[in-house]
Amino acid sequence: MPPSVQNGSAELLDWLKRMREDQPVFRDPIGIYHVFRHEDIQQVTLNPETFSSNSATVMPGVPAELTSGMLSVTDPPAHASLRKIAGQAFTPKRIKDLEPRVVEISEQLLADVPAGEFDFVDHFAHPQPALVIAELLGIPREDVAKFRDWDEKLLATQVPDRNNEAEMAAAAEVAMGGGAFAELKAYVLELCAKRRAQAEDDFISALVHAEVDGERLADNEVANLCIQLLLAGHVSTTAVLGHLILMLDKHPEVAAELRADRELIPAAIEELLRHQPPAPKFARFTTVDTEVAGTAIPAKSVVMVWVMSANHDERVFTEPERFDIHRNPNKHMAFGHGIHFCFGSALARIEIRVALELLFDKFADVRIPPGAEIEYYESEMFAAKRIPLVAN
Ligand code: HEM
Repeated sequence: MPPSVQNGSAELLDWLKRMREDQPVFRDPIGIYHVFRHEDIQQVTLNPETFSSNSATVMPGVPAELTSGMLSVTDPPAHASLRKIAGQAFTPKRIKDLEPRVVEISEQLLADVPAGEFDFVDHFAHPQPALVIAELLGIPREDVAKFRDWDEKLLATQVPDRNNEAEMAAAAEVAMGGGAFAELKAYVLELCAKRRAQAEDDFISALVHAEVDGERLADNEVANLCIQLLLAGHVSTTAVLGHLILMLDKHPEVAAELRADRELIPAAIEELLRHQPPAPKFARFTTVDTEVAGTAIPAKSVVMVWVMSANHDERVFTEPERFDIHRNPNKHMAFGHGIHFCFGSALARIEIRVALELLFDKFADVRIPPGAEIEYYESEMFAAKRIPLVAN
């Protein structure tokens, strides 16, 4: 079985390298197919008709109520209209116009960090993208603190075995019946009802009144789409902001180079995303019998797409383990590929760049205290939970 993705360890990278070499498509003991090479992952992600994103393809037991309206698990043709609707809040212009707010929010957070040692995740990596996405959606600022608790609980939830219908159904029941997801859903549904009664100038109001192909989205779909944007909109960015601090600490020479030439920052961010993608793998579900790289995969199989492996594939990247901010081109797949390509990539790039520029502006020296333990989430995300930091 694959090693844990928890801390992007050398053990994981070694295993992925061996698999790319010896078994580029691997059926594990519970019957999940894993795909490792960059080229093969492109094939999978570019064929949504064969490789569905909806687990109901293989397990009808998962209730549609749980996922309807979520972009990442919606297949064509519904995916296109949903993405169009969601795109109303994420036009390139709107995202670009948001940059001054990202700067303001980030400046405020950095101004408030305590003197001496503090937790970078608590004080910056989590609240920065959470406040930005909340503002974009129309979620009141005072409610954003609740997300940390929900996120912690969601990330602490063990992801069920996607090949086991009983486990998936049990997890779905938990998600609907109580716990963090149900709380979050109830919160967003209440907000939808408020905006339906009285529209404001925000994304949730637009969504509850929007029409897709002549039909209104149901409240459940609006809530699920908002939850997806909310979670996807900050959890991954929080992880990358954490990786950024860890990278600066590990590579002081890169930190010095970036401080001296800020023009290099965007390329450094791409390299960080390549080297340490926060979502190291994601799942697809086959609709028909198919094959990848000569290996037959039957219909109704779970296929695990290893972004972390694609990003370290020596067929595409020379010396893939080396962190090289001058890598060009850098065709990493940290934001996915194909129709489900990350919806918030432009926003995420702005948030990370602004964070780094302001950290450099405000502090001459940013360091993790020697010997500090970095704690990682035990989940499918590759993300640090706490990062002790001293900034002067
Ligand atoms: C560095 C930060 C981020 C990373 C690494 C990341 C990564 C990804 C990846 C790998 C996918 C594709 C999943 C798949 O194909 O199954 C994806 C999709 C998505 N991302 Fe992101 N994401 C980030 C930030 C964001 C932000 C800021 C937002 C929201 C504003 C967002 C919203 C979404 C949505 C809605 C989808 C689903 C798109 C679709 O299915 O059409 N992400 N992201």
